[in-house]
Amino acid sequence: MDFNGKLILAPLAGITNSIFRRVCRKMGADVTWSEMVSADGLVQDAGRTSRLLRFTEAERPFGIQLFGSNPRIMGLAAGKAAGCEPDFIDLNFSCPVRKVVRKNGGASLMRDPKLVGEIARETIRGAGSIPVTAKIRSGWHAGMLNYLEVAEELIRSGISALTLHPRTRDQGFSGQSEWDQISELVRVSTVPVIGSGDVFTPSDVSEMFDTTGCAAVMIGRGAVGNPWIFSRAKCLLTGQDDPGEPQADQRFRLALEHTQMMVEEYGEKYGVIMLRRHFGWYTKGLAEASTLRRKLFACTSLDEVKTIFSGYLERVQCIQTG
Ligand SMILES: Cc1cc2nc3c(=O)[nH]c(=O)nc-3n(C[C@H](O)[C@H](O)[C@H](O)COP(=O)(O)O)c2cc1C
Repeated sequence: MDFNGKLILAPLAGITNSIFRRVCRKMGADVTWSEMVSADGLVQDAGRTSRLLRFTEAERPFGIQLFGSNPRIMGLAAGKAAGCEPDFIDLNFSCPVRKVVRKNGGASLMRDPKLVGEIARETIRGAGSIPVTAKIRSGWHAGMLNYLEVAEELIRSGISALTLHPRTRDQGFSGQSEWDQISELVRVSTVPVIGSGDVFTPSDVSEMFDTTGCAAVMIGRGAVGNPWIFSRAKCLLTGQDDPGEPQADQRFRLALEHTQMMVEEYGEKYGVIMLRRHFGWYTKGLAEASTLRRKLFACTSLDEVKTIFSGYLERVQCIQTG
């Protein structure tokens, strides 16, 4: 799996489902990641967890991310995930959420590099020929910045690439991500390093490549309601003019396409209702956004969404032409 120069859609639990991943691939994301999948859930399972493994060819290159703390179970889960033939399997040592950390999963494992290594080795064994990557944080808290030690253990265990989100578990998503730590990891790592954290604009993408020397840039919150970030960043990276912020009509076109895909997958009513959060994100920053959102949040059909969008565009045009 070649990550060099790639723009990656970050795993975002509850957001980056198969359809959103397809939307982002179409808008220029080079690689996509599943939401994190519980290894325990997968092994015990339960169709509910297995559903998170589903993907389409359009999402490739695609990785399935597993979390858990028991090496044996991680190995079994990796075998199950490998059966779906993703392009890679990723290990989550970065989730700060209490529910996950309480069971010693996600970022909790940053406190135990030896166990991280055991998990990686069992996962690699279970994954067979599928490459295994890992995503880590800076450490557990500011007094325990051990990302280099954990990275060394992972590399020694045979992982193929490393993503660093340079915040501690205690920080959650607060403060700023410390890109210097990405540079530091790039300096010592023998596997490709993927940078993650606070990439919200196309210029953030090129800045992260330039200042850290990372192999690839991962974009999370900056892609939500804004999948254009991938195509715009690519323009910037290849010396073309940045087309700029998408206008209302562009946003609505993509939001409608996204809605249509949801409707095809989940049926009209449920598909539209499930997309409400995305409507909020797609309309961020537009004039009269709160009125627009109130109307969209009451919709249960694709036709209603279309009518609201076209009504908004007509009104804006009237205002602009006086
Ligand atoms: C709502 C939400 C869900 C997330 N879910 C995951 C996840 O399932 N697995 C993971 O490794 N990271 C997860 N993350 C962390 C992101 O992948 C990313 O590393 C982090 O948000 C920093 O990047 P950003 O500033 O570009 O968003 C999540 C973050 C958010 C905000």
